[in-house]
Amino acid sequence: MWDQRYQSDTYAYGVNPNAYMAAHLGYFKPGSSVLVPADGEGRNGVYLAKQGYLVTTFDGSIEGCRKARQLADREGVSMASHHADFDAFVLSTYDGIVLSFFHTPASVRQAYHRACMAALNPGGIVLVHGFGSQQMTYTSGGPRDPEMLFTLPQLRDDFDGLTVLQEDDYVGSLDEGPYHQGPAHLIGFIGRRS
Ligand SMILES: C[S@@+](CC[C@H](N)C(=O)[O-])C[C@H]1O[C@@H](n2cnc3c(N)ncnc32)[C@H](O)[C@@H]1O
Repeated sequence: MWDQRYQSDTYAYGVNPNAYMAAHLGYFKPGSSVLVPADGEGRNGVYLAKQGYLVTTFDGSIEGCRKARQLADREGVSMASHHADFDAFVLSTYDGIVLSFFHTPASVRQAYHRACMAALNPGGIVLVHGFGSQQMTYTSGGPRDPEMLFTLPQLRDDFDGLTVLQEDDYVGSLDEGPYHQGPAHLIGFIGRRS
């Protein structure tokens, strides 16, 4: 499904970064290492690399990875980009992890979030941004399975052990390529490992 979506020359979620991530980069130490799981066509990894971060990305879609590399070349930046499924990608440790619209089946979400938390260096930051539980009432994108949508209590529990720096639960307007357009129920969560 993702390979099919990414085959077009158009970038499905645009080439600009997730606006929530870009607005909250102040939490990330300049020049530090950042992992971007499920980076799709690379818009967030490339942006972070352009800001001077040491970026590692992966995605399960080979087409997504191809376009991520294409975007990195076009922008003249380098990042380590891997074609991998999240359950096969071996996590190292990172100063930051960005999870942008990475909605997994409910049965694996918590374990994956906890694995990410364990992969943070002391002082490391995790930023999660994605669709909230009310997104089923909007047509601006996201999984059509309510169990894959986020709530803040769920994220608090998944990342129990981090110091919560910021939580946001809001209706915003997306303008990110053809697949994220219009009003949306969004959740943002930022935490720091002590
Ligand atoms: C909605 S897109 C978001 C892409 C990107 N994070 C962004 O914000 O533009 C979800 C991404 O998750 C990736 N994905 C889904 N399941 C995955 C898995 N099990 N392992 C790795 N990537 C996966 C898809 O290939 C797709 O690129």
